[in-house]
Amino acid sequence: MANHWEEIQKKLDSIREKQLFRETKTYQGIDFCSNDYMGLATNPSMLEFFQSKKDIYPFGSTASRLVRGNTGSMDQFESEFAKFVEGEAALLVSTGFTANFGLLDSIAAPDCYLFTDRLNHASILDGIRISGAQKKYYHHLDLVHLRSLLEKVDAEDPLHKKKRIVVTETLFSMDGDSPDLKTLLSLKKEFGFVLVLDEAHAFGIYGEEGKGLVFRDLTLSEIQSIDYRVYTLGKSLGLEGGIIVTKKIGRDHLVNVMRSFIFSTAPLPMISKLASYSLKLLSSMDKEREDLLKIAESLKSSLVRNGFSITESTSHIIPLLLETEKEALFYATGLQEKGLDVRAIRPPTVPTPRLRISLNAKIKLNDIDRLVEELILVREKWRSL
Ligand SMILES: Cc1ncc(COP(=O)(O)O)c(C=O)c1O
Repeated sequence: MANHWEEIQKKLDSIREKQLFRETKTYQGIDFCSNDYMGLATNPSMLEFFQSKKDIYPFGSTASRLVRGNTGSMDQFESEFAKFVEGEAALLVSTGFTANFGLLDSIAAPDCYLFTDRLNHASILDGIRISGAQKKYYHHLDLVHLRSLLEKVDAEDPLHKKKRIVVTETLFSMDGDSPDLKTLLSLKKEFGFVLVLDEAHAFGIYGEEGKGLVFRDLTLSEIQSIDYRVYTLGKSLGLEGGIIVTKKIGRDHLVNVMRSFIFSTAPLPMISKLASYSLKLLSSMDKEREDLLKIAESLKSSLVRNGFSITESTSHIIPLLLETEKEALFYATGLQEKGLDVRAIRPPTVPTPRLRISLNAKIKLNDIDRLVEELILVREKWRSL
C-alpha cells in the first residue's frame, strides 16, 4: 500500500505545478472580495448592540437544536426572517453550506430527477450527490436547455412516478449573473417540479428592503409558490449561518430528517440575537443598495472602457476574466501589494481563472478609480514579463 503522506505530498506537488495551490492568508487592504455586501460585519451599531447585551451566556449552544441547543432567540429570528421574506416558516442551521447540502439530501432520493444549473455552488452539487438523485445538468442559465431536459424526462416518465426537482442560485457568486426567474416560474407551472432557489448572494442587495431577487422579479403569489428558498447569514447579514424558508410542513419534515441539522451543534445563541438586529439594519439600507449598484455599473463600464474582459455580470459581483491561473495570481498579488484585497479564483471553483471583484456598501467611487488604475499597471507589468 502506498504511504499515505507520500501520496498527499504528490497530490500537493501536482496542485502547485498547476498554479492551483491554496493557502489561508490573513486579510489586508480595501475589501474587494468578501461577501459582506452591506458592510454589516463591521457596522458600529452592531457592535453597540452586542455590547449592550447582558445575557450572553451560554456562549456555545451546548447541543443540537433538538437537544438543549435551541434558544428563544433562534425561534424568534426564524419567525422574523420568514415574515420578512413572506414565507410560512424558516429553519436556522449553522451555515449556508449545511442548509443546501442537508436540504437536497432530505428532499431528493435515487428515484427522483434533479435538474441543476451546471455552475451551482458546491454545497448544492454535494447535496445532490449524497442524495443519490438522477442528476440532469443544464447549461448555465439556459432555461431552453432545462425545458428540453424536462420534456425528455416527461417522455420517459409521463405519469410523473418520479419527482422532479429544479435547483439554482438566483445570483451566481462566481459569475455575477442570474437566471430569468419569470421564465423559471412559468416552467414550474408547466412541468410541475419542486423548486429550490438559493438567494445567498442576492439577499440584502436586491428587491425592496433587500429582500432578494425574487422580490425584484416575481409577484408575491409566484414567490409563495417557490417550495424552498435558501439564504445565508454569512453574506449580507454579516454573520454566519444558513436559513431555509419553506412551508410549515416542509420545516417539520426537515427537522425530522435533515441529518446536518439533527446531528450538529446548534449555532451560537448570540448569532440569532445579532441576526435579528442585523436584519433590521439591512432592511433600512435602501440608499446604500442604490449607491452600491451605481458603483457596480460604473466599475463595469470603466473596466470595459479600459480593455478588460469581464463576465456578463448583472450585479455587484464583477469577475474579470484572465487567460491562465498564473496570470490571475500575478494580478491578485500585484493588487494586494497595493492595498487592494482582490482574490484570484481558479479551477476547480470555476472552470476558467478570474479575479472575482465583489463590491460592498463601504466602497466609494474613488476606491474603484484606484482599482482600475492599479489593474492597468499590473497588466502592463504582466505584459512586459
Ligand atoms: C450560492 C451559495 N450558496 C451557499 C453558500 C454557502 O453559504 P455559507 O458560506 O453560509 O456556508 C455559498 C457560499 O459561498 C454560496 O455561494
